[in-house]
Amino acid sequence: MRKLKTSVKSLIIIILVIVTGIIAVALRNKFVSDTKASAHESTSNNLVITNDTYLTTAPYDPAVPSKEVRSGWQKKGSGKVFIDKEGKEVKEGVGETSDGKLYLVKNGKPADPGMNLVDNNIFYVGDDGEITRAVYGDKPMVALTFDDGPAKYTEEILDVLKEYNAKATFFINGEDVESYKNAVIREHNEGHVIGNHTQNHKTLTKLSVKDIREQLKQTDDIVYDLCGVKTKYLRPPGGAVDDKVKGAVNMPMINWSVDTRDWDHDNADKTLREVKKSTNDGSIVLMHDRMKSTAQAVKDIVPELLGRGFQLVTIEEMSLLRGGTEPGQVYFSFVP
Ligand code: NI
Repeated sequence: MRKLKTSVKSLIIIILVIVTGIIAVALRNKFVSDTKASAHESTSNNLVITNDTYLTTAPYDPAVPSKEVRSGWQKKGSGKVFIDKEGKEVKEGVGETSDGKLYLVKNGKPADPGMNLVDNNIFYVGDDGEITRAVYGDKPMVALTFDDGPAKYTEEILDVLKEYNAKATFFINGEDVESYKNAVIREHNEGHVIGNHTQNHKTLTKLSVKDIREQLKQTDDIVYDLCGVKTKYLRPPGGAVDDKVKGAVNMPMINWSVDTRDWDHDNADKTLREVKKSTNDGSIVLMHDRMKSTAQAVKDIVPELLGRGFQLVTIEEMSLLRGGTEPGQVYFSFVP
């Protein structure tokens, strides 16, 4: 009987010890989990949607952006801040959202719409600082240029450029605009640069200073009436320049470093081959948008050059990132 009483006592003690143990472990777990939760919230700056399942199954890893991060412009107090895909606040420069969109932030706010030059890069900015096009100064670039248009194949070429978000420069003759107004409007609206190739494709070295200026002004006025912009660059017909021309022209003159001779051979394969063989970082490629074979070649040239890592840029973009231009000077390339 006494033995039995002792056994019951022992059993009760054992049960008490076990129950106390269970309670202690449970309390300890709760403490650890609370600590983790607060540590988690503070690292992620309150941007992670916390819930128990997430806390116990997925340890926080800032290197793995996931659906928990709300990126882009987020409300904070009475204003907003830009949060990138890593959950970090961006106060200055370029930020990327989790869905891969780039935004330009200036002093904590969206950058102004339009062209922004930042650290030798060009960013075109739309609403809320969203970057619609970027050109990086330290990456290779090529300027495709088309002369003697607007013409029959201009829009076919514009379609290809649009498909790849590539930009080019069109040196136009004022006398042809009336017949292809829509092509010129598209050149402007789609972000290309319209350059001056004189009103009637005149060899400028053969003209008087007065006539040189008249040739440029006529085309300039036509472009301004149609698009609201003035031409900033001249391509002298035939590339012909002398001191008289330099003195008469109040804008930079852009010749070329890669001559496809498309107007001469009228062969798409030859045009493509010449571009593949001779194009380097900073090259200016000469083609003609009145040639059917050129419109054909452009369908291969654009993906070929992009595939080789070149950015396809306007003369304006390339000159801005590669030292600029002076009125009356002639440029053949913009090698870094
Ligand atoms: Ni020409």
